[in-house]
Amino acid sequence: MTGKPVSVSDYEQEAKRKLPKAVFDYYFSGADEQETLADNVAAFSRWRLYPRVLRDVSQVDMSVSVFGQQLSMPVCVAATAMQRMAHPDGEVATMRACSSAGTGMMLSSWATSTIEEVAEAAPGGVRWMQLYIYKDRALTLSLVRRAERSGYTAIFVTVDTPYLGRRRNDVRNRFKLPSHLRMANFDSPDLAFSPKKGYGDDSGLAVYVAQAIDPTLQWEHIAWLKSITSLPVVLKGVLTAEDAKLALKYGIDGILVSNHGARQLDSVPATIDVLPEVVEAVGGQVDVFLDGGVRRGTDVLKALALGAKAVFLGRPVLWGLACGVRELEGASGAMDKRVQNLKIKLTDD
Ligand SMILES: Cc1cc2nc3c(=O)[nH]c(=O)nc-3n(C[C@H](O)[C@H](O)[C@H](O)COP(=O)(O)O)c2cc1C
Repeated sequence: MTGKPVSVSDYEQEAKRKLPKAVFDYYFSGADEQETLADNVAAFSRWRLYPRVLRDVSQVDMSVSVFGQQLSMPVCVAATAMQRMAHPDGEVATMRACSSAGTGMMLSSWATSTIEEVAEAAPGGVRWMQLYIYKDRALTLSLVRRAERSGYTAIFVTVDTPYLGRRRNDVRNRFKLPSHLRMANFDSPDLAFSPKKGYGDDSGLAVYVAQAIDPTLQWEHIAWLKSITSLPVVLKGVLTAEDAKLALKYGIDGILVSNHGARQLDSVPATIDVLPEVVEAVGGQVDVFLDGGVRRGTDVLKALALGAKAVFLGRPVLWGLACGVRELEGASGAMDKRVQNLKIKLTDD
């Protein structure tokens, strides 16, 4: 690439040049054949915008309220693990960037910065906690309590990771953290994904998940989570109307339509393609969010037009971190303010 990066894919190319191969591979990879990884992005191109004209767009307000907090735009940051591999400040830098852009950040349970450090980085910033439910329930509870004490205002519980998806390059690279890093929110080397531990001939993270994360997770655990916190609980990883309806039955406060950036189960649909059925099933009872493949302002508009309250970005933020970028330029800057009152259709091809 020559010259200043102007799109998310420019930043991706630049990040690929800058990051060690095993780190780029971990950030980039999807599961198995990576069919859904490609489709998450391609699916947006199958939808077309039908803009109306002559609507006075001299004043455009992109702000949105999420769980009672005002954001400058409907573009937020998804949980991505181990951000200090991309930049020495990692999650702390992301929190500062979100705060200065006026949007919210979802912090991964597997962050390389602590829950408290990230809160202190931008005390006024909007922050939410992504939660993995560990076999060790006391540990899980302590993550929730620390998030509550540190001013996180929602829990996004990830429900699509009973085991880690098979990401082939991570297996080839025997992925583990670089020696100076660890998952910062855990004390024991086992739970902190210590790079000093041996993980055999596999993706170290896949071994970690099999050891630590609870594969028996089912709806009653969601009822348990709801019973131990008064924070809104959002299910992260719903792809069907059936599960969306069950989520309502269990008193869930929001749904994030997500296939985990296509990193878990390959061959699942692109998130934008299932958003309409989830929105219809939910019928306005709770907010519906989307992540997966959002790379352009028009992608954001399509998700909003199909009923999402806001979208979340995963990899684009990591590319920005790797390049030392502070703004969410790729997503928010490209949002086309001239397009108003959209109708949206799926094209035939
Ligand atoms: C490198 C990486 C790490 C991730 N780590 C987590 C995580 O710790 N917890 C989680 O719930 N989702 C995690 N995700 C999934 C994201 O939250 C999000 O669903 C996904 O990245 C959105 O797709 P996109 O990358 O195409 O924007 C991760 C995604 C990536 C790319």
